[in-house]
Amino acid sequence: MKKLWSILTALILLAVLSGCEKKQPAAEPSLLLGFSQLGSESSFRIGNTKDIEEKAKEYGISLMMENANQKQENQIDAIRRFIAYRVDVIAFSPIVEEGWDNVLTEAKNAGIPVVLVDRTVKTDKEDLYVSLIGADFYREGVMAAEYLLKKADDLGKDILNIVEITGTEDSTPMRQRQQGFADTIRKDPRMNLLESVNGDFLRSRGAECMSYLLEKYGDRIDVIFSHNDEMTMGALPEIEKAGYAPGKDMILISIDGGQEAIDILKEGKINCIVECTPMLGSILMETALALKAGKTVEKVTHPVERAFTDYDDLSDLKPRGY
Ligand code: AHR
Repeated sequence: MKKLWSILTALILLAVLSGCEKKQPAAEPSLLLGFSQLGSESSFRIGNTKDIEEKAKEYGISLMMENANQKQENQIDAIRRFIAYRVDVIAFSPIVEEGWDNVLTEAKNAGIPVVLVDRTVKTDKEDLYVSLIGADFYREGVMAAEYLLKKADDLGKDILNIVEITGTEDSTPMRQRQQGFADTIRKDPRMNLLESVNGDFLRSRGAECMSYLLEKYGDRIDVIFSHNDEMTMGALPEIEKAGYAPGKDMILISIDGGQEAIDILKEGKINCIVECTPMLGSILMETALALKAGKTVEKVTHPVERAFTDYDDLSDLKPRGY
């Protein structure tokens, strides 16, 4: 009897212990998201990639991230791989606006929803994507021009000669920033656009464009409107090499608002930066989860953005994170 009792006790103990040791099954990732990033051309882009990676981890979303190195064909290949892999949601930042109908139709036929991040596509078929999460680039161009109109009033100038360094040809930010800026300065006879040149959002191209413009127009240039910080920072040393003081002899207007450019604005060498935030990761994850749950999502979401200018006290500005 005593023996039977000790066997029973041992069995009960074993059962209790094995119950304690039983591991919780690892939480299944709730969703598989394929994301095609267009490249690494700027601090905006690098910040955007980092934010999406971090937010995917935070939301417990499994992320397949591919970098297309500035080539549309690489993005199309990546989207086809996501379809073959049967991801739950496809997201991508289209490098240019045209040329997506075929691959997006393939995604639609496979029943995989597509979310556009940062930039949009040109298509007659609005149902090829379910949502666009990105800046209002037209508004950014308007804000840049509005700053300039105010500056012109303060300086009491009769005429301001402007040169523009634009972003990647046929991309959404290039088209819309140019349009917003042009529509706003057109109403003011003091604004004279000398030339627009394409700098592809790259620092090296910003330097080349600036040296070409300085060679051609020299001290006739009053204002440089550059479509991103990267090109602005490429242009700055060229202006100084040519013997001008950026921010004083020439007004510099930029877009993005990354830390490096904000620090230069604080030094007085850039006059205005219109914010373009790369922090789109949280909205993307929320959207992807909603789609997986079968909910309808907003067709367009624009983050709230502001301008940083030489009129502002920026001493309390928090680190930008990109
Ligand atoms: O699409 C957003 C733009 O792309 C950013 O302004 C620029 O820096 C980036 O390369």
